[in-house]
This record gives sequence, structure tokens and C-alpha cells, in this order.
Amino acid sequence: MLKSHFGVNRKGHLVCGGVDTVELCEEFGTPLYVMDEERIRENYRRFLRAFGRRRRVRLCYALKANSNSAVVRVLATEGAGADVSSENELRIALGAGIPGEKMVFNGNLKTEGELRLALRHGVTINIDCFQELEVVGRLAEKTGREARVSFRINPDVKAPTHPYIATGLRESKFGFDVKSGEALEAYRRAKGMRNVRIVGIHAHIGSQILDPSPFVEEAEKVMEVVAQLRELGIELEFVDLGGGVGIPYRPEEREVDLEELARRVVSTVERVERERGMHEHLLVFEPGRYLVGDAGILLARVEYTKERKGLPRWISLDAGMNALIRPALYGAYHHIELANKMNLENDTLTNVAGPLCESGDFLGKERLLPRAERGDLAVIFDVGAYGLSMSNQHTAKPRPAMVMVRRGKAALVRRRETFRDLTRLDLLPPWLR
Ligand code: LLP
Repeated sequence: MLKSHFGVNRKGHLVCGGVDTVELCEEFGTPLYVMDEERIRENYRRFLRAFGRRRRVRLCYALKANSNSAVVRVLATEGAGADVSSENELRIALGAGIPGEKMVFNGNLKTEGELRLALRHGVTINIDCFQELEVVGRLAEKTGREARVSFRINPDVKAPTHPYIATGLRESKFGFDVKSGEALEAYRRAKGMRNVRIVGIHAHIGSQILDPSPFVEEAEKVMEVVAQLRELGIELEFVDLGGGVGIPYRPEEREVDLEELARRVVSTVERVERERGMHEHLLVFEPGRYLVGDAGILLARVEYTKERKGLPRWISLDAGMNALIRPALYGAYHHIELANKMNLENDTLTNVAGPLCESGDFLGKERLLPRAERGDLAVIFDVGAYGLSMSNQHTAKPRPAMVMVRRGKAALVRRRETFRDLTRLDLLPPWLR
């Protein structure tokens, strides 16, 4: 079943953003990432509406999902803030027109250089450890700028997701432990620091979570800390619950019920605010995948096919774990179809391989597809998040190009890498010249 923003035309070709994907590949080549601008906007508005109807809320787009400048620009024009996790993401967000005041800087390792840039632009720093707090305090003092800080706490919530992308458990590397009192201690220390202004609290329990309950548990635990802080005389501007809202990847998976999620999370927050006589906090979320994941597809050419009696048919695409690493890294499922044979029956058991010289390089195993022939076009769905942003150049393959489509128009938003791009940073030592 295709998601509602796709169509199929009379030729049986997949249509995205009003554009025939087969024609896109003729014009721009393969492998090709395609981002549907309208879908990004719809996702943003749906998320904002669900929470915004109930609360003052800010969405800080997590650039790590897809930091392409055009993608970030689309969200900037919607009014989004940004969650950045490196100096360069911060620069990309600024370049796209997102002001520093609407950004949060996350991560367990922010270098002094990165922190200086954040301070210069008034970016809120979500502090991850005591040493980082000291560094920020020192830099703020030295530069005479006030640091806006918030603390990432570890709420010890188990998120039902892949262990590599679960972050809220006590044993994870992130944030300040709540149980042992570390989190409160961090706030106490910051309170005594000149040039440091405490503005919020932050947590992120993991990614690709489809069930609202862990978010409700997170909200409860975070609000408990907020209430304790109040007793210490520390009042916050915002409560940042991070990202993590998932999308359906498998045909049988259901969409997250955003209305239910918003209702339950907001009522949890409001209950604690009411009970403890607190003011209303600005709610912050850092969605990445939810905003851009299903807005992106990857188009790849079927180059060769192989038949072995009694085994699924192998097809080799010109994109594999170099272009999209999620299947190899997490065993992630991405739905695959043939973009030029959308009207044919899916009757052939097929293994979908990439072009690299390792067995882990596949995009799907045992999939039902129409019988694929050399020259056909495969489409891999739901790759707008953590697709191009995690791609690599293994075996010196150039990274794919990316186009953005909107109302029947297409524009290149990232050019395909070239031999020159791949080699321009290499140097020979003098003795080998
Ligand atoms: N905020 C923080 C602090 C994060 O660490 C992340 C993601 C997000 C927000 C955005 O999460 P999202 O809404 O996209 O779930 N590479 C993995 C996902 C890693 C997510 C890391 N942190 C994947 O391909 O599934």
C-alpha cells in the first residue's frame, strides 16, 4: 500500500510530488534521492497542529535526520527551530535562515570551538555532563556573553526500539542521571555560575518509537524533576522532550496517533504544573524522522539479475549500504517496489543487493516484487531521514544526488559527487611524488 502522497500514472510509473520518477532518473541519473517538499510541510504542520492546539510549543527540527540545505530551508520557512549536534549543522541551520535563538545544541561531545559558536549565536546548549558545564561557564565568562543552558537528563525510560537508537536508559552514555541526584546537582552548580542562565530541561529517550506510552512516561519523569527544581528556586522557560516519534516502515505498521500522543503528553505536563502551582512552560520537541522520513525516496537502477533454482532471485542495484546504510546497520526494513512497474503483480521472491563487495550489502531480503529485469528502476521508500545523511563513499562510490519535487517541478538540491570530489582531499607525501 502506497502512502497517500504518492501516485501511479497511466504508464504504471510511480509519481512523487507530481513528477514521474522514471523521468526524474532519465534527467538526473541514478542512484537518486528525491524529497517531496509538500510532504515535509504537511508533516510539520500535522505535528505542530496536534500539540499547538493544546499548548505553546516549538518544534526544533533535528538536522541529523537530513541536513541538506534545501530541506532545512523548507522547515525554516515553516517557522521551525533547529536541533543541531555539530558546528556544521549549526551553520547549515543559520544559512537556511533559522535564528540561533530558536536552536538547541545537543550531544555528549561539543568541542570548545563548537560551544563558542553556539554562544555567539545565542543557541541554547543542552549540557550533557559536569565538565561541559564548566567549559561553558568559563567560555561565557571569558567572552562576556550569557550562556543559555539547559540540562539533558536521563529519565530511565525504556523505549521499544532498536538498542542502537534507544537513549533513555540509565546505562546509556547520555545525560545526567536522575536517580542518584546528579541532575539536581547539575542545576545547583549552574545556579551559582555567573553568565550562565538556566532556561530549560531536556530529555530524549530514543528514536523510531511508535507507541505514545514511553513519551508519557518520559513527560512524567521530566516534570517530576521540574517540580523538584522549583523547590530549589529554579524556574524554567521550557521543557524539551526531544525527538523520537516514529513512522511506519512496514506495510503492516500503523501511523502514530499524534492526537492521542499530544493529548496524553500535554495533560501529563499540565497536571504536574497545576498540582505544583507552576507556570506554563514552553514545550519543545525535536522531531527529525517524523518530519522528513516518509518525504524521501531513493531511486536505483536494477543493473543485473541472477537466478538460482529454489532460491530467491537476486537483483543488484546501483545503490546499497553506501547510499543507505540503515538495513545493513540496524537490520532496518525499507519497503521496495519497482518504480516503472507499479501496476504489475508482486509475484517474484527477490533479494535486493547493493553494488559493494560484502554480503551485508543488501537493501532487502525475500521481498515480493514484479519480476525485475536489467534496466528496471527500484524505489526504496521512507529514506528521507538518516538516508543521505548517513551515506558513505565505500569503494570510492560517489554519494547520490538529491532532487526536491513540488507540484510537478523538480530541482537538484544536491549534486552527485564526482571523481574530483572523492579525491580532492587526498595528498601524497613528498617522498612518493
Ligand atoms: N534529539 C536528539 C537529542 C537526538 O539524539 C535525536 C536522534 C533526535 C532529537 C531526533 O530523533 P528522531 O525524531 O529523528 O527520532 N540513525 C538512526 C537514528 C538515530 C537517532 C539519533 N538521535 C536511524 O537511522 O534510525
